[in-house]
Order: sequence, then structure tokens, then C-alpha cells
Amino acid sequence: MKHFSFFILTLMLLASIVQANSYQSSNNYDLQTQELLNQIQGKRIAILTNPSCIDSSRELLFDVIFKNQNIYNYTLEYALAPEHGIRGDQDAGSLVYDYVDQQTNITVYSLYGIRKQPTVEMLQKVDTIVHCIVDVGTRFFTYIWTMSYAQEAVGDYNFNLTQKAQFKDIFQINNSQRQLSSYFRDIQNSNTKKEINFIVVDRPNVLGGQLIQGCPLEIESGYIGRLFNQNFTIPTRYAMTTGELATLFNEEYLIHKINDLKVIKIPNYNRNSGFPNASLWINPSPNMKTYQTAYVYPGTGVFEQTNVSEGRGTNNPFQIIGAPFVNGTLISQILTYDNTVNQYAQFTPVTFIPTTSKWVNQTCQGVQITVIDSEKYDSVFVGTRVMQVLLQEYPQNMTLTQKGSCQEFGTLNFYNQITNKSITVQDILDSCQPNLKEWKKIREKHLIYN
Ligand SMILES: *[C@@H]1O[C@H](CO)[C@@H](O)[C@H](O)[C@H]1NC(C)=O
Ligand SMILES: *[C@@H]1O[C@H](CO)[C@@H](O)[C@H](O)[C@H]1NC(C)=O
Ligand SMILES: *[C@@H]1O[C@H](CO)[C@@H](O)[C@H](O)[C@H]1NC(C)=O
Ligand SMILES: *[C@@H]1O[C@H](CO)[C@@H](O)[C@H](O)[C@H]1NC(C)=O
Ligand SMILES: *[C@@H]1O[C@H](CO)[C@@H](O)[C@H](O)[C@H]1NC(C)=O
Ligand SMILES: *[C@@H]1O[C@H](CO)[C@@H](O)[C@H](O)[C@H]1NC(C)=O
Ligand SMILES: *[C@@H]1O[C@H](CO)[C@@H](O)[C@H](O)[C@H]1NC(C)=O
Ligand SMILES: *[C@@H]1O[C@H](CO)[C@@H](O)[C@H](O)[C@H]1NC(C)=O
Ligand SMILES: *[C@@H]1O[C@H](CO)[C@@H](O)[C@H](O)[C@H]1NC(C)=O
Ligand SMILES: *[C@@H]1O[C@H](CO)[C@@H](O)[C@H](O)[C@H]1NC(C)=O
Ligand SMILES: *[C@@H]1O[C@H](CO)[C@@H](O)[C@H](O)[C@H]1NC(C)=O
Repeated sequence: MKHFSFFILTLMLLASIVQANSYQSSNNYDLQTQELLNQIQGKRIAILTNPSCIDSSRELLFDVIFKNQNIYNYTLEYALAPEHGIRGDQDAGSLVYDYVDQQTNITVYSLYGIRKQPTVEMLQKVDTIVHCIVDVGTRFFTYIWTMSYAQEAVGDYNFNLTQKAQFKDIFQINNSQRQLSSYFRDIQNSNTKKEINFIVVDRPNVLGGQLIQGCPLEIESGYIGRLFNQNFTIPTRYAMTTGELATLFNEEYLIHKINDLKVIKIPNYNRNSGFPNASLWINPSPNMKTYQTAYVYPGTGVFEQTNVSEGRGTNNPFQIIGAPFVNGTLISQILTYDNTVNQYAQFTPVTFIPTTSKWVNQTCQGVQITVIDSEKYDSVFVGTRVMQVLLQEYPQNMTLTQKGSCQEFGTLNFYNQITNKSITVQDILDSCQPNLKEWKKIREKHLIYN
């Protein structure tokens, strides 16, 4: 670890020489790539990535890794794909199947399908798994859970190796005549296998590293993001980089930790920095079109659990909320005069016709949320308040799933609270403060940037 920090320090020094305007410089990503290439020499690797992970020339890390195999003497055995695939070209909202990447002929194994984890057979082929995906900083976005599942598989695999190694010792003492059954051959071989290491090429959290919002998941609600079910507790907006989160998962939640988990830090990154360079924004998913989407998403994502459109099938998903039964002027007025939210956002009436998803081809009315100051925006508060206003105005027409809304919001009481007129949004958020306080202590231990 000391060695590693020293290396980072050297990198940071280098970065500041190369570019005085260091953090803004996309060269930071190139420095990380360089460090990665140095670390994987001689290894067999797999990479879990998507188009959000690029360098200063906007080349995908995947392609960089593919091209440099001979120069740095490593082998890219296969890629692992999260939702939407490694080039983001797999159908949205549907499962990803295994495929061969046309440009490289590298096999891509899906971790967003029937399989959520690399199998033992896949793990046996590699020494190192590399992860690089930009995260939008919201619990119910799937990429971080794909990372956690991959980590879990590596931890379990490594653990199994050490178990088998122990068995082998016992076996040797115990048996003079070798029974070369496949079981014992397997044990025999496993002793020569090395534990897999996991390298996170870190990227900034799109929502920055400071503002924590919403409630930590109550594990009893049994859900973290579509298709995933992991007993890992984080709040809706958690303000950590993927590298920090990987460390937190490893140290706090994995039953079998990965002994060699490395985070290749972003040189000169500062928690306040937000996303470093707008020109390096790449849609991390089809409905996450801009920065602005990322800011509102922790609050309005829960509209997936209603029959009100969350703006899917428009140019402003998660910023536009509405339905045919909504009077956009009325809702905008209520929110505009509401002092608990009008400090955070402007609310404008909109009329829209979704091209996909809920109310497709039907004229909807609703509200468009425009964030006033992204540095101060309380996304969960605003989104929850918009939902509460709509539920109160359209109790006959609006539906909200009971279990689903609790799971997505993260607390078992959410449905009862949001549908109870005598409970405020502040009350809802206050009720998870004790859990949040505990979680913040855990988070604190795993922060690697100032
Ligand atoms: C952002 O990155 C682009 C592409 O690498 C670069 O041309 C531009 O100067 C960077 N902007 C800032 C503010 O650093
Ligand atoms: C390349 O890596 C392999 C596997 O670790 C090793 O056996 C070989 O000596 C390396 N070749 C060079 C030129 O470093
Ligand atoms: C991929 O395989 C096809 C068919 O075997 C071949 O024509 C093509 O050149 C290969 N592409 C790369 C990048 O290796
Ligand atoms: C580890 O061993 C257990 C028990 O034999 C097995 O069920 C599991 O699939 C193995 N997992 C990995 C990742 O090797
Ligand atoms: C063989 O190993 C087993 C499992 O650890 C142990 O219980 C047993 O006592 C050993 N037998 C001999 C003869 O050492
Ligand atoms: C999560 O924890 C609950 C209660 O402790 C348990 O019933 C459930 O099986 C766990 N789920 C997973 C995926 O580990
Ligand atoms: C909303 O509910 C009311 C009362 O049930 C009903 O009359 C009306 O048609 C509904 N509006 C829409 C657009 O579904
Ligand atoms: C919508 O709400 C506005 C503001 O309250 C009101 O003036 C208008 O009449 C309403 N429209 C309909 C069709 O009810
Ligand atoms: C919506 O409208 C488009 C264009 O008119 C049409 O192609 C599509 O089939 C419609 N979809 C539905 C579900 O009605
Ligand atoms: C939403 O409301 C409409 C009309 O009020 C109703 O027909 C529809 O079944 C509801 N959708 C869901 C998913 O509950
Ligand atoms: C609504 O909340 C109030 C205040 O917490 C509580 O007294 C009341 O029982 C709740 N109503 C329902 C229907 O749960």
C-alpha cells in the first residue's frame, strides 16, 4: 500500500508538471491507463467495462487494452459486460447475452442476464479482473451492483483456492498412495493457481463526492437495483467513487474479501470536483443523456414505481414527470410556491408525448425540473416532494407500487409514509437519519480522496 501511495504521488507530481491545470486535464485518465498497463504485464486479464471509460482521445479503455497486448505482454482473455454491453450498443432494458465483439473478436460474457457473476470456468482463465465504469452515484443504477457481484465471485473463488490448498496438505500427510481421482487432481492443481486480483481504474462519481442524500437501504426490503439482491447497504446518493465503493464492499460486506484489491486513483482528484470535464461525458446508459439527468435521477428514479411517466421516451428522462391526468400548470404552481423545494429547482409546465414506455403516443402533461445549483441540489427531497404532490392531487388516477416503491426508495415504511397526508417529506427523510448516521461512519473509513 505504501508503495502504491508513493507511486500515486509520483504520478501526481508528473501530472502537475505536464499540465498546470491538472485536475481538469483529461491526461489524468491517460496516466491511470499507463499505470494499469504497467500492472498487468505478463498477466491474463478480463475487463469489466463500458463506453463511459475512455481516455483523453475518447478511445475506450477496452480498445486500448486490446491494442497493447503485445507491447505490454499480457492477454485479454475476455470482457465482462454490464447492462447495455461493453460498447453500450446492447438493447436497453433487456438482458444482455454473451456475444463476440465485432471489432476485436474478443468474447464478451454478459453479467446482466441470467448470469450475474463470472463463473468458475471464466475465473480459471485469468489472473486479474480490471474494472472501469463511470458511475452516476445513485443506488438504483445497476453498474455498481454488477461490480459487487464480480467482486463477490472473485472473493469466493480465491477463498475456495485456499480451502483446497489446506485440504491438499492434509491429504499428503494422510495418504501415501495417491488416488489420482479428478477431485484430488483438482486439489493438486489448485495449489499452483494464484488468487485473482481485482483492479479498479477509478473514475469520478458524476454526482461528486460530497452530498449524501436519501436513505440507506433497509436490508429487509431485499433489493438494491433491478435484478440484483445483495445485502449491501448504501444510501440513494452515496458520494463515493467506484474505487472507494469497491473498497467499502470488499471490507464491509463481502463474505470472502479479495486480498489484492487495487484502486488506480485519479491523480489530483478532489471530492468537490464533480465530473471533471464535460467534453468527456458519455451517456452511461440510454436514458442518462446529460449531467442534468444524473442530478435529478436519485429523486425521480422512484417514479418507475408509478403509472406517471418519468420522462422515458422524451429528450429529458427523469427531468420530466407527467401523465394524461395531470394538470401541468397546477402542479408547477404548487411546487413553485413551495418553499421546501423552490430553492432547489424551477418547475415549469410541460406537455409531452412519450415515444416509448408509459403512456406511449399519448399526450401527457406535467412538470419539468430544472436544477438551480447542482452543488446544492437535494435530489431525493425534490423528487419525493414531486411524488407527494402528485399523489395528493390525483389519488384516483395515480398508482404507486407498495413493495416496489419501498425497495427503490430503500425503506420499508416509504409507501405508508408517502401516502399519509400528515407526514412531510422531511419526516420521511428524518426517519432514516439514525441509519444514515451509522452508514456515514462506515463510508468515512473508505474514502481515499480529500
Ligand atoms: C476537456 O477535455 C478535452 C478533450 O480531451 C480537452 O480538449 C479540453 O481542454 C478539456 N477541458 C478542460 C476544461 O480541461
Ligand atoms: C511475457 O509474460 C509471460 C507470462 O508471464 C512470461 O512467461 C514471459 O517471459 C513474458 N515475456 C516477456 C518478453 O517479458
Ligand atoms: C475477427 O475474425 C474474423 C473472422 O475470423 C476475421 O476476418 C477478422 O479479421 C477478425 N478481426 C480481428 C480484429 O481479429
Ligand atoms: C466455491 O466453492 C463452493 C463450495 O464448493 C461452490 O459452491 C462455489 O461455486 C465455489 N465458488 C467459486 C466462485 O469458486
Ligand atoms: C487424516 O485427515 C483427517 C482430516 O483432517 C483427520 O481427521 C485424520 O485424523 C487423518 N488421519 C490420519 C491417519 O492422520
Ligand atoms: C440478506 O439478509 C437476509 C436477512 O439477514 C437474508 O434472509 C437474505 O437471504 C440475505 N440475502 C442475500 C442475497 O444474502
Ligand atoms: C382520473 O380519475 C377520475 C376519477 O376516477 C376519472 O374520472 C378520470 O377519467 C381519470 N382520468 C384519467 C386521465 O384517467
Ligand atoms: C389547470 O390548473 C390551472 C391552475 O390551477 C387552472 O387555472 C386550470 O383551469 C386547470 N386546467 C384544467 C383543464 O383543469
Ligand atoms: C406509437 O406511434 C408510432 C408512430 O406513429 C407507431 O409506430 C407506434 O406503433 C405507436 N406505438 C404504440 C404502442 O401505439
Ligand atoms: C395508471 O392509471 C391508468 C389510468 O388512471 C390506469 O388505466 C392504469 O392501469 C394505471 N397503470 C398502472 C401501472 O397502475
Ligand atoms: C399517518 O401518520 C400519522 C402521524 O404519524 C399517524 O398518526 C397516522 O396513524 C397515519 N395514518 C395512517 C393511515 O397510517
